[in-house]
Amino acid sequence: MPMCGIVGYAGTRPALGIVLDGLRRLEYRGYDSAGVAIVDGAELVACKRAGKLTNLEKAVADLAAGGADLAAGAVDRAGGGDRAGGGDRAGGGLATGTTGIGHTRWATHGGPTDRNAHPHRSADGRVAVIHNGIIENFAALQAELEAAGVELASETDSECAAHLLAAELAALEEGAPDQAIAVSGVPSSGAALAEAMRRVCRRLAGAFTLLAVDTAAPGVVVGARRDSPLVVGRGEGENYLASDVAAFIAHTREAVELGQDQVVTITADRIQVTDFAGNPTTGREYHVDWDASAAEKGGYDYFMLKEIAEQPRAVADTLRGRFTEAGGIALDEVRLTGQDLRNVDKIFIVACGTAYHSGLVAKYAIEHWTRIPCEVELASEFRYRDPVLDRSTLVVAISQSGETMDTLMALRHAREQKARVLAICNTNGSTIPRESDAVLYTHAGPEIAVASTKAFLTQLVACYLVGLHLAQVRGVKFADEVAAVVAQLEAMPGKVAAVLETMEPVRALGRELAAARSVLFVGRHVGYPVALEGALKLKELAYMHAEGFAAGELKHGPIALIEEGTPVVCVVPSPAGRGVLHDKLGSNLQEVRARGARTIVIAEEGDDAVVPYADHLVRVPATPTLLAPLLTAVPLQVLACEIAVARGHDVDQPRNLAKSVTVE
Ligand code: M6R
Repeated sequence: MPMCGIVGYAGTRPALGIVLDGLRRLEYRGYDSAGVAIVDGAELVACKRAGKLTNLEKAVADLAAGGADLAAGAVDRAGGGDRAGGGDRAGGGLATGTTGIGHTRWATHGGPTDRNAHPHRSADGRVAVIHNGIIENFAALQAELEAAGVELASETDSECAAHLLAAELAALEEGAPDQAIAVSGVPSSGAALAEAMRRVCRRLAGAFTLLAVDTAAPGVVVGARRDSPLVVGRGEGENYLASDVAAFIAHTREAVELGQDQVVTITADRIQVTDFAGNPTTGREYHVDWDASAAEKGGYDYFMLKEIAEQPRAVADTLRGRFTEAGGIALDEVRLTGQDLRNVDKIFIVACGTAYHSGLVAKYAIEHWTRIPCEVELASEFRYRDPVLDRSTLVVAISQSGETMDTLMALRHAREQKARVLAICNTNGSTIPRESDAVLYTHAGPEIAVASTKAFLTQLVACYLVGLHLAQVRGVKFADEVAAVVAQLEAMPGKVAAVLETMEPVRALGRELAAARSVLFVGRHVGYPVALEGALKLKELAYMHAEGFAAGELKHGPIALIEEGTPVVCVVPSPAGRGVLHDKLGSNLQEVRARGARTIVIAEEGDDAVVPYADHLVRVPATPTLLAPLLTAVPLQVLACEIAVARGHDVDQPRNLAKSVTVE
């Protein structure tokens, strides 16, 4: 299961509500099935359901209300045996247990069914496991288990971890007093479960986060991670494990970052970390600088609408503290020395999806300001292309989540070739910044909607800062030139807010376009990546055919797509910038209109030249060319969102997608 949300809780309060609440906050990570396992004394009750989290919540509520009969229908009995657990106390155990794990899934290995939903139980019913990632050697492990007589209950790669854990526990128990004590009624310390987890992890190939509970160790959750996210939440008399801090932010803002190949044991009052060999280690402690309200809808119908509205603040927060009094750039947190930056002779930007589009914009600014060659590449292509890199190459890896596997693999590849890697990331404690030489954090706050909006704008801001910083350090821009761009950047939050205030006609247009078959987006220069981003938003949210083109390319093929009434969104460059760009796009506008296109023109205030060719005109405040994407992207986000809502889609959780793509 590659891109899932995981929650674990060990404390003194009933775990069920806390785990379900955590899953609700992580549902953006995967939403085709969900499940929980709660340990109550020596009893383990698991419940799981295909479909969105509401299906699980309903099953759990029925179970709690209905007792034994309903329990039989709602509790996972897949695979027979005693895997359902709980018996006629099933509902009670769910409600009262103070240790629990929960999972929300994005399926690959085995369809989104009740059986394939997590948790998975060992054949003897004592262990329940949830998993994020892919166990690449699962076929061999399954064959081994089947040869030993284990009957597998699902089609997942994950289930084998439960059986392997049970087998390791059984082997350990032969000589281990820890589990024997638990059997006699005193809770175990979980040492055996942790050791069993380490042994299992050493046998697994691939990427994984695993959480496990064991009836012989009530009060204990053991987790493990390799190439897949897992963070610890440190509470008062209770502790948490989760794919990201959003799951426990309502309870604690104190977090512990786990390293690669580590196993963690949590109880109500203990957090113990070791490597896979069993050597004790510690994670980095940090304070989360946003609170639970940041991960709530706050009165909006969708997170996406809230996140679009938050953009002025996100841009301002990402700019804050990055300037000197003299108007220069101060990126103190970037752990690369002035000499490192002066040595750079080539830049590669690697990223995926929306983050890639921010990199495409950055190329224009970075090359213009620094005169260093800058290539932008999809991380998934870069990794397997054998790019030419060396010590003087700077690789900039952009990722909102900090967990995107394609980007992570690209940066590892770059570091193996001795290139320096700077991460631009929105998620403290995530893997990409941890594995980079330096990091510049964006301060967008949590982005919950699958479609990236405020993260995009803040990635643009971070890229501008990197470009200006390089120009300043290398002395290719005079201080007053840097100060002039800094002043322009500081004006951007207000301008983004001004754009947002004028979006009503765009929403109305979105409702009109809901029945369109296809929408084309065109732009030039920095408007070209904005066109790509507008098309991506529409595809992922409205499930409509949408394409972004460099306007100059239209006549080389794509113009054949235009029929009477085809909507074409044109991102027009500022006439005050490079006038020739503006004029060329004006010609392209006329060309598509002459072929029947319905033109939707995004143009600067005061640009009257485009008026005769615009069926719909969307104005943005006048802005220097390189910074314009911070404004022109916004109407395209609003348009896509409105079209999707008009077509009846859930814009926060578009089909087939997940927020963090943690497999290649
Ligand atoms: O977390 P990342 O920034 O690394 O994610 C990269 C892409 O998966 C992401 O931007 C994706 O394209 C968005 N859903 C687009 O809205």
